[in-house]
Amino acid sequence: MSSEKMVVTPWEVSGALDYDKLVKEFGVSRIDEKLHKRIVKLAGEDHPWLRRGIFFAHTNLDKVLDAIEKGEPVWLYTGRAPSGPVHLGHVVPWLFTKWLQDRLGLRLLFQVPDEEKYLFKDTTLEEAKQWTEDNLLDIVAMGFDPERTKIIVDTKHADLMYSLAVQVAKRTTASQAKALFGLKPEDNVGKYFYSCMQSVPCFLPTELEGKPTPTLIPCAIDQDVHFRLTRDVAPKLGYPKPSTILCRFLPALSSDGKMSSSGEQVIAMSDDAKAVRKKIMKYAFSGGKDTVEEHRKHGGDPDADVAYQWLTFFEPDDAKLADVRRRYERGDLLSGELKQLLVDAIVPFIEEHQRRKSDARGKTHQYLIR
Ligand code: TRP
Repeated sequence: MSSEKMVVTPWEVSGALDYDKLVKEFGVSRIDEKLHKRIVKLAGEDHPWLRRGIFFAHTNLDKVLDAIEKGEPVWLYTGRAPSGPVHLGHVVPWLFTKWLQDRLGLRLLFQVPDEEKYLFKDTTLEEAKQWTEDNLLDIVAMGFDPERTKIIVDTKHADLMYSLAVQVAKRTTASQAKALFGLKPEDNVGKYFYSCMQSVPCFLPTELEGKPTPTLIPCAIDQDVHFRLTRDVAPKLGYPKPSTILCRFLPALSSDGKMSSSGEQVIAMSDDAKAVRKKIMKYAFSGGKDTVEEHRKHGGDPDADVAYQWLTFFEPDDAKLADVRRRYERGDLLSGELKQLLVDAIVPFIEEHQRRKSDARGKTHQYLIR
């Protein structure tokens, strides 16, 4: 692995990730034992991703937990900018959102900003539209409560969003956007405006409920910068500040950084079992030794092993995970065997998703905000 400089923006994640440094730079807080316990108490159960520090940081989490404890309305909010197939990394915050919705009985606003990748990448509007249709099926396949979930698509529901977006825009200067997102004068003005659109779903629940309604946003840590802007603007507009609950990135299979959509090393939710197995066997960076003999003698390093790291995301059973760790460190478990355990953990999950996705056909309109 290289030791490239760490870059974490909503549009690029690369280099060796240092989460302590990110927490400092982003001005977010760690989820401490006290907050963790409060969530467990409200949810009635713990979540492996909290225990394992995968959801590890937050902003304003205490405030939103206060509101939930008092029985005041709170909405969940998360999103997905369509530009290609949904992959295994994307569903991490979605699965956690579903858990929060199920355990806390919260409403959810799911934003699909179909202009975002057009403004920031090479995606055409036509492509974004097509991927929206596809990705909506993936979102519905997550099994969010249809009674409590609304999906909002930026270009389709622009009329619902625009007046709030301009109110955010009026309180945001170009220098702020520049400083927050590293934008340059030659960047298109759509990039300067976009974050205003991503702020809107933080405020819509207050409009829909007719009373101050904070949002809780489960997302990967790179997205927090958008909500830093929202937190600045919220009091000026008389809305509650949003709270975020932030996760680490699903590591890339063989390099530094997060698993990204480009290249052949991505595991898509549409991959078949054979493709999943092949990519993991071929690309997953191994923490094992060079020869079987050496590995048996000295054991492997689970913390450097991507297959093991992925198991911390996708193997819910703590005892099983601890056993894998022990056997790998002792050299009883070989790299190939560890990778096979990972394949066995994710293939059924991906196949189940594909069944649910095909069941979702014809049902997405039930979730659209209107
Ligand atoms: N910017 C996100 C992406 O690139 C999409 C998004 C919109 C989002 N609103 C969100 C993500 C809220 C997390 C939470 O996919």
